[in-house]
Amino acid sequence: MPDRYAVVGNPVAHSKSPLIHAEFAKQTGEPVEYGRILAPLDGFVATIERFRAEGGKGANVTLPFKEEAFRLANRLSDRARRAEAVNTLRFDPDAVFGDNTDGVGLTSDLVRNLGVVLAGARILLVGAGGAARGVIPSLFDAKPASLTVANRTVARAEELARAFGPPVVARSFDALAGETFSIVVNATSASLAGDSPALPSGIYAPGAVAYDMMYGKGETPFLTVAKAQGAARFADGLGMLVEQAAESFCIWRGVRPDTAPVLALLRSLA
Ligand code: ATR
Repeated sequence: MPDRYAVVGNPVAHSKSPLIHAEFAKQTGEPVEYGRILAPLDGFVATIERFRAEGGKGANVTLPFKEEAFRLANRLSDRARRAEAVNTLRFDPDAVFGDNTDGVGLTSDLVRNLGVVLAGARILLVGAGGAARGVIPSLFDAKPASLTVANRTVARAEELARAFGPPVVARSFDALAGETFSIVVNATSASLAGDSPALPSGIYAPGAVAYDMMYGKGETPFLTVAKAQGAARFADGLGMLVEQAAESFCIWRGVRPDTAPVLALLRSLA
């Protein structure tokens, strides 16, 4: 009997995680079966408890349950504690372990797949919701020269800057005018509405990378605008998705799969 895992979210039908983990299982020979579970908006904890009682070994948690998963876990990794959000649960005999692999998914994609150097870089993170908060610990740990969080509602960015401390600083979009960055990461949900955050032009340093944590068919609105504003390199969040999945797989199975062929497969299906 394979060990059972699942992605739990609402909605969850669109999730590519089952395909990714099936590829990882095939590649590593690990006896893993990975499904998807739609949890009612008011029934996340009950859904997790049922899955665990039925023999589930762990779960990925996606929108809108990452903060609830953080509260549910009774043992946490350091990065999950700092993010105050959990996307990976492992059901241990004596505890529910919670981790957050989103941040390392982003930094692994930037560093390993795109060859970006984070140490000493001037990084702009756009957005101040759960998605942004989840990746700050890993960006912070990569020792950038500065990590600027800009948000449409500046108070939310200021709250994050206060919570994490230097080198995290907060800006309104308008206050970015005159500053330049070598890496600009979009962690807003604007692309979902076909929109792009209203960033001033001139923020991309020569050779700068524009990274959208969202992905979809074709270029995201953020990347289209970034191109027009002079960014030199572009990536959407598909690589991050595969890298965070690999990190979760490793937390569960102790084996890190090779992400390159799985990312290539997903790109070929897009
Ligand atoms: P998530 O968990 O996905 O981060 P969230 O907490 O609702 O979701 O946060 C959404 C983020 O996207 C916020 O930073 C939001 O900006 P506000 O805090 O000002 O609302 C940002 N966002 C959504 N649509 C946007 C748009 N059209 N332009 C700029 N920012 C947008």
